[in-house]
Amino acid sequence: MMAADQIVHGVPPSLSAKVVGSFAYLTVRDRLPTILTKVIDTIHRNKNKFFEEYGEEGIQAEKQTISLLSKMRNELQTDKPVLALTDRLQDTDSWNQYLQRQQSLHGDPESVSWFKSSWLYVECYMYRRIQEALWLNPPISDYDVFNEGKTQSFFESQQAVMALCTHLEGVNKNMEEFSKNQLFEHFNKLLQVSLWGNKCDLSISAGQDNSQKTSPIDSLDSLRPFILVDDSNMVWSTLMSIQRPGQPEKTPAGRVDIVLDNAGFELVTDLILADFLVSSGLVREVHFHGKSIPWFVSDVTAHDFQWTIRQTMAANHKWMSKSGVQWQRYVKEGMWSYHDHPFWTLPQEFCDMAADAPDLYETLKEADLVLFKGDLNYRKLTGDREWDHTVGFDTALRGFGPAPLCSLRTLKANVQVGLQPGQGEKLTSQDPDWMTCGKYAVIQFCNPK
Ligand code: F6P
Ligand code: MG
Repeated sequence: MMAADQIVHGVPPSLSAKVVGSFAYLTVRDRLPTILTKVIDTIHRNKNKFFEEYGEEGIQAEKQTISLLSKMRNELQTDKPVLALTDRLQDTDSWNQYLQRQQSLHGDPESVSWFKSSWLYVECYMYRRIQEALWLNPPISDYDVFNEGKTQSFFESQQAVMALCTHLEGVNKNMEEFSKNQLFEHFNKLLQVSLWGNKCDLSISAGQDNSQKTSPIDSLDSLRPFILVDDSNMVWSTLMSIQRPGQPEKTPAGRVDIVLDNAGFELVTDLILADFLVSSGLVREVHFHGKSIPWFVSDVTAHDFQWTIRQTMAANHKWMSKSGVQWQRYVKEGMWSYHDHPFWTLPQEFCDMAADAPDLYETLKEADLVLFKGDLNYRKLTGDREWDHTVGFDTALRGFGPAPLCSLRTLKANVQVGLQPGQGEKLTSQDPDWMTCGKYAVIQFCNPK
């Protein structure tokens, strides 16, 4: 029987834990069970809180949830087949149809299992099963098992956040006087701050503290050599080409969408960039896209988004609280808006979006530029496949292109396209872990038109 991936003509197979010793294998074998164990501990530690809030029912829910999660951990560790979801949520059918498709592609339901399926699929599936365990146990259905870690990572990066807000204040104050070149320089810096903000996710460190302690602005020069692809000029040209039909040149127009990744420090860097985009008049609107369920340990949900703005407002630091007040105003006045869509927490590659989530694809089409933050978004953009490093980004996107798009990503998984011939080999000889250590990054752009 031919592997399902090889059936797709000319497209390399998906990364999978079936390759013993690969990063996917080590993730499924070690990192995912560690994350699950932490989730179980967190729920158990909050037993009293559930009791206080829901009485005996809360205790029962805690026990049941833990039992479902332990069962799942066992299925994972013994490479059992992936099971259909049993809850009745908005996305349950999509997940189960996806599973059926995998089973019929493989011709054998048993072979759609934790170690034999695609890594992207089973890793996404684990987070959705955590949600299922909670949803099957009201009253604790809405409990975010990753909230504590996200909150902690925000507070641990306070110094860096203050430094960034102080920098932003200095930029905003002088905005009127900037030449186009100066504006580009400031944009570039904040784009890189948002890029390096992606170093701080909690999934790669299996939930360990990974927060930013120093001012990122001061580190940008020393980090530059680690940006393997830098298409920031093309991102800037895209912003410059935004049409202002029938309006004076200074009237802001256009929209940038940011497909968010992690809460904590990274989210603040994204808000800082979005603030600059709007306050400079480069664009009129920024649409943020987050997750509708807790995801990959540190990803942003609607609650995290609002909480972060409120905390920034409440900070006991002049420029930080000023930034927070400004951000709240942007939200209130509609220059900023937060959106979520179930597609972001499905296992699909983004080339499937037009068919599987046409409404979301249409929405993204309205943007002048879409910024995709982080590693998981890169994996979904490229399908998480064994691409040769010199394959073009546009080829790996396989037709996905609702609008000009740019990935801002630090490398934490072994997929990387769009490199120069020999660049990958050189990196491998210098630094064998270059694709997974989070030290390298890309600003990778594609204009599909
Ligand atoms: O393997 C590392 C990992 O857990 C990947 O699964 C995932 O791509 C990444 O961490 C999450 O990183 P990010 O938050 O940048 O998407
Ligand atoms: Mg993430």
